[in-house]
Amino acid sequence: MSFRARHLLGIEHLAPDEITTILDLAESYAELNRSDIKHGDALKGLTQINMFFEASTRTQASFELAGKRLGADVMNMALGASSLKKGETLIDTALTLNAMHPDLLVVRHPHSGAVSLLSQKVNCAVLNAGDGRHEHPTQALLDALTIRRAKGRLHRLTVAICGDIAHSRVARSNIHLLGKMENRVRLVAPPTLMPSQASEWGVEVYGSMDEGLKDADVVMMLRLQKERMDGAFIPSEREYFHRFGLDAEKLAHAKPDAIVMHPGPMNRGVEIDGTIADDINRSVIQDQVEMGVAVRMAAMDLLARNLKAARAGEGVLV
Ligand code: NCD
Repeated sequence: MSFRARHLLGIEHLAPDEITTILDLAESYAELNRSDIKHGDALKGLTQINMFFEASTRTQASFELAGKRLGADVMNMALGASSLKKGETLIDTALTLNAMHPDLLVVRHPHSGAVSLLSQKVNCAVLNAGDGRHEHPTQALLDALTIRRAKGRLHRLTVAICGDIAHSRVARSNIHLLGKMENRVRLVAPPTLMPSQASEWGVEVYGSMDEGLKDADVVMMLRLQKERMDGAFIPSEREYFHRFGLDAEKLAHAKPDAIVMHPGPMNRGVEIDGTIADDINRSVIQDQVEMGVAVRMAAMDLLARNLKAARAGEGVLV
């Protein structure tokens, strides 16, 4: 086993063999999740606290289910915007929780870097469930597992990530992961939604869907993150759909067996046509949700092993 980290804060600092270790273990959990009895005991006796300072449906549900299936005591704390007026609040909350001796802390926060800061203040393993526009590591891992299962490999693929790149932590984590596994990553967005540094990220940058999707193996659509926009980034949703929304015509530029992905929640008719999203021959959106539970089980299992080893004094973890 080559996953030695204490926390899962991002993809940026993971090595390719660590990514493969997580995905291989997740594969066995995907199998468990399809059986009648879905219980394992990797987290038995451990306490998992989910702290979501930002709205979430599938990520929180899937972390909760993952923990319960592996035998952890799981507590959910929904912390609305009111509880995070000051940076101090986050640390105070963390210290309070730390005093309850959790083993796994799953944190989503609207500020980039907040989860990493928190990880320095607690004695347990911390998993980043999305911090601002920075990283969303378990999303990139579940996307990778979905791609690997659909395409039979996770290297030398052309992956087009399209839409609101500027505000997307999903895009950032996927760019790191897909690059580390030696894929060709293309970013497709209007100039207002393309980060100015994108060309330095080892990716190809496109302003047109027809060109960006040409011969792609994977088409990953992103939600327009209106809650992170403080002005007009697009002329209108109608115009945006016309130029950047995925429909059959634009998808025809990708390979005939290209798969379509979306992390959810989807804005049908804005970034993706509803019929494409529901097309079981092209869309793997439901597989992404399924793999989300398996990947989170694997990540928490591996972190719990490292935590126990550290507590037993078996070397210092990075
Ligand atoms: C993503 C997120 O929260 O960053 N959603 C998710 O985790 N399923 C993407 C999004 O909100 O658009």
